[in-house]
Amino acid sequence: MNVDYLRVSVTVRCNLQCVYCNPVGCCGIRHCDDLLTAHEISRVVRLLVECGIQKVRITGGEPLLREDVVHLVGEMAGTEGIEDLSLTTNGVFLESFAAELKAAGLQRVNVSVDSLQRQTYTRITGCDLLPSVARGVHKAIEVGLMPVKLNSVIVRGFNDSDEQIAALAEMSVRLPIAVRFIEYCPTNACARPATDYLPNRIVRTIIEREFGPLSGAVFGPGSGPALYFKISGSVGTIGFISGRSSIFCQSCSRLRLTSDGKLMPCLYSAQTYDFGGLIRNGAGDERVRNLLKLAVSEKSRFTKLNSFRDGFSMCGIGG
Ligand code: GTP
Ligand code: 5AD
Repeated sequence: MNVDYLRVSVTVRCNLQCVYCNPVGCCGIRHCDDLLTAHEISRVVRLLVECGIQKVRITGGEPLLREDVVHLVGEMAGTEGIEDLSLTTNGVFLESFAAELKAAGLQRVNVSVDSLQRQTYTRITGCDLLPSVARGVHKAIEVGLMPVKLNSVIVRGFNDSDEQIAALAEMSVRLPIAVRFIEYCPTNACARPATDYLPNRIVRTIIEREFGPLSGAVFGPGSGPALYFKISGSVGTIGFISGRSSIFCQSCSRLRLTSDGKLMPCLYSAQTYDFGGLIRNGAGDERVRNLLKLAVSEKSRFTKLNSFRDGFSMCGIGG
């Protein structure tokens, strides 16, 4: 598999406390003195582009909490060789950032929206902020950060009712967006037991009961593991990310850079390559490039089956 997609986490901080990710606000209190600067991130990204990366996604924590995020987007947009530049956000600050991000060269956004019921959204995230997120999503569409994708992690006992799933799916009928259902993946930080995940085949059954059969898989624009379908007559698409019920290591094209400069060959990797340390020790481009080449060439050695480890948490990795 060609390794062409880099997810760059630019902060571990997050303003939400989602039950499936950051339930005690762990990302908010983590020490982040060793955060890479925008200049350092750009340097690693530029060298990674030389090693085959063409698609870059900015993640967090919540990336819009980072003060220089617009500058960072501008730096990446100006890096020759990046064909797809996107960002994943919880959407709370998106309304005020969308136009600036677009002007800086961001192409598209994915937004976490786990429920359209205000009470449930508040229960899942710990914050009563659904109206801000909804305004953010509409603003993103308005300024052309397209395609906008919604990420909904379904957790039993929270947002798994037929009614809630149908309401999320219905958004794709009216709006030019992809609504994606993500199987909850247990991590060490999660407040919910591993058994609280709802397999996507059940989510699909619920959607088809309400809207009729989904059309065959269409390839949605994107680099991630989602498979896309359509409700008949809809403007948008439905996506399924089935990280629990299926394994997509064979087709994985992704590397992850943490905000302190560790390159991860797999979401679950215990082994990382420390570019933050290397850069701070004054390494020149040639040395950095050589380690990057090694990391890219070794990626296929790491899979979910041989990497899964204790101490794993999504919030510092950016999903
Ligand atoms: P595009 O397809 O390019 O739009 O992006 P994406 O789906 O890769 O990005 P996003 O940040 O929206 O991620 C959506 C979900 O996919 C997150 O929950 C990620 O953790 C999950 N995901 C992405 N890659 C992997 C992977 O390799 N393994 C697993 N289990 N989940 C993944
Ligand atoms: N399981 C599945 N998806 C998760 N995300 C965060 N934590 C988890 C988890 N435990 C998703 C968020 C966000 C994306 C970056 O990762 O919904 O949209």
